[in-house]
Amino acid sequence: MSTQGLRGAAVVAGLGAWLPPRVVDNEEISRYLDTSDEWIRARTGIGERHVVDPGMSTVDLAVEAGRRALDSAGPGAIDAVLLATSTADQLCPGSAPQVASRLGLNGVAALDLNAVCSGFVYALATGGGLIASGVAGRVLVIGADVFTSLIDPQDRSTVPIFGDGAGAVVLREGTADEPGALGPFDLHSEGELAELLWVAAGGAKQRTSENRSDYFLAMQGTAVFRHACARMAESARTVLDKAGWQVCDVDRFVGHQANIRILQVAAKQLGLPPESVVANIEHTGNTSAASIPLALADAVTDGTLVTGHKVLLGAFGAGLTWGSTVLTWPDVKPG
Ligand code: UT7
Repeated sequence: MSTQGLRGAAVVAGLGAWLPPRVVDNEEISRYLDTSDEWIRARTGIGERHVVDPGMSTVDLAVEAGRRALDSAGPGAIDAVLLATSTADQLCPGSAPQVASRLGLNGVAALDLNAVCSGFVYALATGGGLIASGVAGRVLVIGADVFTSLIDPQDRSTVPIFGDGAGAVVLREGTADEPGALGPFDLHSEGELAELLWVAAGGAKQRTSENRSDYFLAMQGTAVFRHACARMAESARTVLDKAGWQVCDVDRFVGHQANIRILQVAAKQLGLPPESVVANIEHTGNTSAASIPLALADAVTDGTLVTGHKVLLGAFGAGLTWGSTVLTWPDVKPG
């Protein structure tokens, strides 16, 4: 098939992931909170999560994952670094320039993108846009979060859910018909529901608060759960339509790892078989913007995801935000 008119597609050329070494299992949490391994596993599918040690930050995690993605992609200049995160090291500036610097990429375009748990899919679309418009030829897209920095250590509704981590891909310019080419995309938001999942204080609207809990993530879990299932399934249908794929074409569904039950419900609503669902949440918890590239890296490493598989990516998060894309998995392994 002629590739005329297909140039300018963004193609996945490298993959990397990194988790901080410290593992906190459900038993450890159950020692200081009114919860149990049984409850956490049954309601979320989570058994343990990785948590940063004091002094370790989002930039540190992003650099580790970014370096591995660059190794995986092999030699070639990088023109831009996009960092999907909602836990930047400082409120201002964004952390992407520091990540770029530490990777030896001083001087390249670098910016943060905050779409919380949907951030990685949004950043893939943005990286694809930089490539399609000719602004960049190769883009490092990283999803990294230290979500435990937003969590009240005494809140049993959030402590068991979240973990820290980072994952990354290198995108290069290529053609829409080659393995690894991204797209189409389906992206959405619903800001009137922001309060379902947010940190009330510390930003420009409310710099300070006398209420300690305002500085931590507040989550109306059941409402978020309902929206997540419905929106992920709806968005997946839209993106499959746009791509001209049938549900039965999908070999692997790599969704944001927020709760194993959300992934199962969304897959069921779509008519996807349970074995198509990629899940590493048991060992990571919800790592926000890092979760999809971490799941991709784990799935390639354990052989669940192989070259040629048709992959549906789906994300949902605070904002609210959600989105999907598709690709055929290329011959790419984590660095
Ligand atoms: O990253 C994207 C955004 N985040 C999400 O997508 C998260 C979406 N939400 C969820 O995953 C689920 O709503 C949770 C896992 C957070 C909660 O599960 P749930 O099935 O919605 O539980 P619930 O909040 O309705 O609580 C059920 C019961 C309650 O007790 P009663 O009222 O039935 O007696 C809670 O008090 O479980 C109790 N409970 C707990 N028990 C033990 C709530 N948290 C805990 C806990 N340990 N950690």
